[in-house]
Amino acid sequence: QKGSYKHFMLKEICEQPEVLEQCMRGRVKASEGQLLLGGLAMHMDRLAAATRIIIVACGTSWHAALLGEYLIEHLARIPVEVEYGSEFRYRNPILFKEDVLIAVSQSGETADTLAALQLAKQHKCLCIGVCNQVGSSIARETDGGVYLHAGPEIGVASTKAFTAQIFTLSMIALKIAHRRGEIDDDSLKSKLQAMTELPGLLKRVIDQKETVLQMAKVYRYASNFLYLGRGFNFPVALEGALKLKEISYIHAEGYPAAEMKHGPIALIDQFMPVVVIAPKSDPNYHKLQSNIEEVLARGGAVIAITEDDNHDLDNCDYVIRVPTTDEFLMPVLAVAPLQLMAYYIADMRGCNVDQPRNLAKSVTVE
Ligand code: F6R
Repeated sequence: QKGSYKHFMLKEICEQPEVLEQCMRGRVKASEGQLLLGGLAMHMDRLAAATRIIIVACGTSWHAALLGEYLIEHLARIPVEVEYGSEFRYRNPILFKEDVLIAVSQSGETADTLAALQLAKQHKCLCIGVCNQVGSSIARETDGGVYLHAGPEIGVASTKAFTAQIFTLSMIALKIAHRRGEIDDDSLKSKLQAMTELPGLLKRVIDQKETVLQMAKVYRYASNFLYLGRGFNFPVALEGALKLKEISYIHAEGYPAAEMKHGPIALIDQFMPVVVIAPKSDPNYHKLQSNIEEVLARGGAVIAITEDDNHDLDNCDYVIRVPTTDEFLMPVLAVAPLQLMAYYIADMRGCNVDQPRNLAKSVTVE
């Protein structure tokens, strides 16, 4: 039930702090420095010894998968490839029995992701599921996995499942990294502590709804949006753009920030709002700052997402502030204002937020 919320989507955005709690329950034990992922326990040796991990998904789940690549490569130092289920299954992919395939799917029923999983099974790969729907086809057909425990997602546009997916992939990356000796006990403990603090920090972000609403009022008539981010926040830029286009029908594109000068910069004028995820924790923050200057110099409006105490970006048109956290967890905080902005803009444009035109919650046909 929606309760006092106008739409399921708004409810699902707002309940994300509790979703993180549910996702961590019984798994993250920060004070003991322990991370328990029961559904992976019997596969940990093979996972830690993998020479390649392939993550398959579609849509929003593919964006989570892309962040999964960045996280696993950064923390666990195993090469990762990210694949669209539909492309992977039809391009005669090369699969070795030592490969590990991770299928990421909220519904666990997406036809292309399921078919990619079945292909990997034929090649005897270890198959791991990251699903929300308990007992779904993907959950049943994988050798093991980690459920999101995000609760039912009713809004067609995925929000809390995305957040739970990236959080779960962070846990998986940390678990493999620790098992491989890439991070030591102390480092694991401090990262688990940062995860424990995340629900409270995310709540503070969502409590700024009113600020996002005011900003949405200003930009609701725009016809195009650009979203830029680097590193861990590049998948967030893609996801922000997808949320806006699917529910408000505004054309939006996400780009790695440094790619802007290789083409999209030609689009920038006073009618082009550009959302830049620019946390100071980003190792290339200064490069993001230059991208912002380039947009402003061409008359574009910049909406920046950065930390509470960073005032370098006060010359932007809007600054949305998020608390400071460990760099690898920033996407969880950065995506929430983008979800809220898409929601408010779509609602103000009179769109059917929970059931956008032409979209189905679960794509079980090709
Ligand atoms: C976007 C959205 C879709 C799904 C995609 C995969 O908001 O909901 O892009 O993410 O259809 O669905 P699942 O995760 O169920 O495999």
